[in-house]
Amino acid sequence: MQAMRISGGRPLSGHIKISGAKNAALPALAASLLAREPVLLRRMPNVVDIRTMANLLASIGAGVEARPDSYLIQAAGDLDPVAPYELVKTMRASSLVLGPLAARCGRARVSLPGGCAIGSRPIDMHLDGLKTLGATVRQDHGYIEAVAPSGGLIGGRIQFRRPTVTGTEDLLMAATLANGESVLENAACEPEVVDLADLLTKMGARIDGAGTPTIRVDGVDELTGAEHAIIPDRIETGTYLIAGALAGGELSLEGTCRQHLEPVIAKMRQAGCLIESPDDSTLVLRQTPQLLSVDVTTREHPGFPTDMQAQFMALMTQAEGTSNVVETVFENRFMHVLELQRMGADITIGGNTAVVRGKAALTGTDVMASDLRASASLVLAALAANGTTTVHRIYHLQRGYDRLAEKLTGVGASIEFIDE
Ligand code: UD1
Repeated sequence: MQAMRISGGRPLSGHIKISGAKNAALPALAASLLAREPVLLRRMPNVVDIRTMANLLASIGAGVEARPDSYLIQAAGDLDPVAPYELVKTMRASSLVLGPLAARCGRARVSLPGGCAIGSRPIDMHLDGLKTLGATVRQDHGYIEAVAPSGGLIGGRIQFRRPTVTGTEDLLMAATLANGESVLENAACEPEVVDLADLLTKMGARIDGAGTPTIRVDGVDELTGAEHAIIPDRIETGTYLIAGALAGGELSLEGTCRQHLEPVIAKMRQAGCLIESPDDSTLVLRQTPQLLSVDVTTREHPGFPTDMQAQFMALMTQAEGTSNVVETVFENRFMHVLELQRMGADITIGGNTAVVRGKAALTGTDVMASDLRASASLVLAALAANGTTTVHRIYHLQRGYDRLAEKLTGVGASIEFIDE
């Protein structure tokens, strides 16, 4: 296993190129199972979760060709519609193949995802949606099996209990090949859902309303091949904005999408950060004069993203005053707090609220990464800490950040990998 050793206190300066969004690339790979013709996905991030999903597609029987920054997928032949435990246990997003396989093969058998560091993350809404589309769903031996009626899935009205990102994506994919019209109500509006709808539309799907809570899909008989560039990673961009604000200095983030970052930019500006946008794909962070405490509550898009909560909390440890960080999307998503406390942060948790008192003097120590975004918050805190921080279990980071250490050292951070 590898750890990351970070020496804090160095200002960052320079340019960082933003990678494609992991959370858009994962459903795009799953969508390629819907067509027999090749699907070329460009701007793919170089992260472990993407390689896991590519391995899953290969084990299902798709041809997978990995090229620098792109993947060519061809699911031409007969597929074996099974997602085995070995692959699903490392990545919950494997459940994204349920909908495409049920639609394309009439059957999907997917291992139930195991426990997760950020609370219970059920997939009941994926399954209820498939039932609405006519599938029979049953569970045995740790697997979920969904079987479509003999004539294929049937369009239906799916009402989500609450917005679910991968649930919306899963059922959107299933609905593209269902017979007749489907309506997804209370759907997730995240940019990654819109990106998936864009890809599916290029493949010949008939979709209206992606990016709003009501998505209408007119099922078609088959989808074709397509070429698509994945949207930039808004969470990666936000993480580097906070890195710059914590370490000091000036950063230019290139190849991003300002519009997708607006909820994060708004909060950072309230906190005293100077962020400019010379064009829609560039964000420039100027030297922050003084960080101020602001409250933040995570919400579905266009609210403040839960995937930026841990990083924003690291920022608030260095702000003057008291900040309430409220997590409403996931239960138990404060795993980073204990580790930040070990670095000297003053944070108390009551229910789903973390009260952060700043400015705390952070000092380097050994900390343990627990999930992807929690790990990022520890790296960010380390950039602001006095002395050296060793972040253990960094495989979490490698699941979702494309060359994070290389990108940060490229703008002046001091980071080295150590084997342990
Ligand atoms: C996706 C993202 C993840 C992000 C999250 C919220 C991917 C691969 N992952 O995860 O990075 O943090 O959106 O923006 O895109 N829920 C249920 N039943 C379900 C599905 C979800 O109760 O069937 C609950 C969850 O426990 C959670 C809430 O709904 O409390 C939202 O979760 P959801 O949007 O589904 O998250 P993911 O799609 O798993």
